[in-house]
Amino acid sequence: MSKQPVTVIGLGPMGSAMAGAFLDNDHPVTVWNRTAGKADHLVARGAVRADTVQAALAANELVVLSLTDYAAMYDVLGPAATALSGRVLVNLSSDTPDQARAGARWAARHGATHLTGGVLVPPPWIGKPGASTFYSGPRQAFETYRETLMVLTGTDYRGDDPGLAALYYQLNMDMFWTSMLSWLHALALARANGITAKELLPYATSALDLRYFLEFYTDRIDAGEHPGDVDRLAMGVASVEHVAHTTRDSGIDSALPDAVLEIFRRGQDAGRGGDSFTSLIDILAARR
Ligand SMILES: NC(=O)c1ccc[n+]([C@@H]2O[C@H](COP(=O)([O-])OP(=O)(O)OC[C@H]3O[C@@H](n4cnc5c(N)ncnc54)[C@H](OP(=O)(O)O)[C@@H]3O)[C@@H](O)[C@H]2O)c1
Repeated sequence: MSKQPVTVIGLGPMGSAMAGAFLDNDHPVTVWNRTAGKADHLVARGAVRADTVQAALAANELVVLSLTDYAAMYDVLGPAATALSGRVLVNLSSDTPDQARAGARWAARHGATHLTGGVLVPPPWIGKPGASTFYSGPRQAFETYRETLMVLTGTDYRGDDPGLAALYYQLNMDMFWTSMLSWLHALALARANGITAKELLPYATSALDLRYFLEFYTDRIDAGEHPGDVDRLAMGVASVEHVAHTTRDSGIDSALPDAVLEIFRRGQDAGRGGDSFTSLIDILAARR
């Protein structure tokens, strides 16, 4: 059976990897990018370069968008909106849940179907086992294109609401960026003390493997229970103070541990010193 043809709009590192994966799997691919030269290596591998966005949309029903954000989608597709009717836009660009919902409404107004996606892996993982992408939007459209989308990554359909894939994606990014910044901070502290990233690597991979803690605390957090039986927030405050002091003693920027300490202290000031540090969820979840 012939493979579904697909248009890929947006050829940054991610869109290029995606177009490449479709080509690797014998899907006919049409590409368009604002900076046209970024398509050269894909054209050399058999992709068709569309000269205009209209032509890229006219070429195929299935259109994968890999742009920086939804504002870029309006910049690219807005002037070609009349060509959107009947297209299925699989928007794998990052943005907020509200932007995804507004984007779906905008697409519908132009007669297009919009599926939101949130890709959980970096470009080198596209087309490799173990990669995954959140999807949400009309289930029927997702089912129709699921097999083709599986060329890129595994699929995790979250529901009809177009905002859901974006929400799950941003939850992942929330954890990712904060954790990665904690790693960079530890590396800066290590470097100030003559320890290389390479030397810290086995300890960093172990410290950031938080599965035990996540599994231990999850049911307690859902039950709203934060007993201080295995850890007390007061101990946590002292511990973060030690990190902040070690940072300052090493002569480097302490903005990150200071910010963490500020949140821990707010919990203590709210009378939670005898509870687990997980009681900070009540501080973090407070509407401001
Ligand atoms: N890279 C990753 O590791 C990764 C991982 C997971 C998810 N993502 C998400 O996947 C999406 C694409 O990632 P990427 O790394 O390829 O992003 P990128 O480097 O920002 O490239 C995005 C593409 O958007 C285009 N673009 C941006 N603003 C535009 C505008 N106003 N008008 C027309 N085109 C515009 C760029 O065109 P030009 O080439 O002309 O500049 C480029 O083709 C992003 O939403 C990102 O958050 C990325």
